[in-house]
Amino acid sequence: NQSSVPGLFKAKLAAEPGFVRFADGLDTPVLLYNGTNPVIEANEGDKVEINFENRIPGEPTTIHWHGMPVPADQDGNPMDPVASGGERLYAFGLPEGSAASYWFHPHPHGLTAEQVYRGLAGIFLVKPKNDPIPPEYGDTVLMLTDLRIAPDGTMPENTMADLMNGRVGDHVLVNGQKNPAMAVALGEKRRLRLYNATNARFLRLRFENADMTVIGTDGGLIEAPVAVNELLLTPAERVELIVSFDKPGEARLTTLDYERGWMGPGKPNEAGLTLLTANVSDEMMAAMPPLPATLRSIESLGAPAITRRFVLTESMGGMDDGSMSMSSGNMEMKFLINGASFDMNRIDEVSKVGQVELWEIANEADMDHPFHVHGTQFQIIEHEKEGTVSAPPYRAWKDTVNVAAGETVRIVLRQDLPGPRMYHCHILEHEQLGMMGTIDIQ
Ligand code: C2O
Ligand code: CU
Ligand code: CU
Repeated sequence: NQSSVPGLFKAKLAAEPGFVRFADGLDTPVLLYNGTNPVIEANEGDKVEINFENRIPGEPTTIHWHGMPVPADQDGNPMDPVASGGERLYAFGLPEGSAASYWFHPHPHGLTAEQVYRGLAGIFLVKPKNDPIPPEYGDTVLMLTDLRIAPDGTMPENTMADLMNGRVGDHVLVNGQKNPAMAVALGEKRRLRLYNATNARFLRLRFENADMTVIGTDGGLIEAPVAVNELLLTPAERVELIVSFDKPGEARLTTLDYERGWMGPGKPNEAGLTLLTANVSDEMMAAMPPLPATLRSIESLGAPAITRRFVLTESMGGMDDGSMSMSSGNMEMKFLINGASFDMNRIDEVSKVGQVELWEIANEADMDHPFHVHGTQFQIIEHEKEGTVSAPPYRAWKDTVNVAAGETVRIVLRQDLPGPRMYHCHILEHEQLGMMGTIDIQ
């Protein structure tokens, strides 16, 4: 399905119904791209042409290139649906410096959350011309998803808790498998790209019996490696790690508890899950090349010309006696940005190509909301909570940042291409219930 003339990357993608066989021989109907969750690999400088076909019966869809600097009319916005049975070409370039761990998923108006939890998502790796990471470390994608399956093998409908908190599945999968095994040699270093491709699960992760070093974020490599004991990966975020396996036996990628402001009963078990098990041999392998001390430089975007403020709130309309009711399709629960619910026919903000902006995202709601901007990468300047301001530990390119309840996050960004861009909470049920806006770049 992929062909490569140097400098031109062409592929065909079809969104289509399929099955996954998960438990006890039950076939679960899902949606897939080309029957799978594909991993696309292209190079910086390539021109990309993707022929897309929507084979989902009765539903429009789009492909949104999450995090990628593609033109607005190629970015699968909700206002550019591909009808069921329809086709379109997505064409864009991959500029110098754009190498990173991107992904893609549908973005049709009102259907994004459901199409993603039913399975539609893929990985888009852009490789750099010169990679500072030793090739001996390999390059492994770990796509984290979660799945909920009823006893009859079907996927249950959303509950009220799913709409409030986002739909969190019961089984966390890595590349479609539960707790897959990975064989490594003692002393081996591996490059792992972790993707939180769930609708709504907060993943606070650590590696037991192995050492983690962050080398990259949503928008590619950071400036220098940073050793960490744990990390929080909220929906849509990615991290690139070097994991050093210096102890024989089992090394496990596990989860820790995280307080994300869960509303109501039914908080899923977030702690103590084993997502992946590495079996480390007890024979020491020949020494691997060291990780370079510097990876690349990330320039500052310079002084912002303007500041915009985005206030995130929740409105739980239909509540009378404290109980929730969802009256015959009349959804009262709303997730708002600056008091407004998403309207596809409204432009919320207007900006200019190339203008450096400071965005202040204030979460005045009771739960965390991972905030995402289309079409560009931003830099986090600071987090502020209860009067305490903290700068991030390193400079990085990001397209999604968790804004914890009660917190204000300041980011700096610039859009280099004209057209409408979405910004939204990446808990996809919140996006669907209105926590999204449109900024038109002119
Ligand atoms: Cu992955 Cu509009 O986002
Ligand atoms: Cu996006
Ligand atoms: Cu949210």
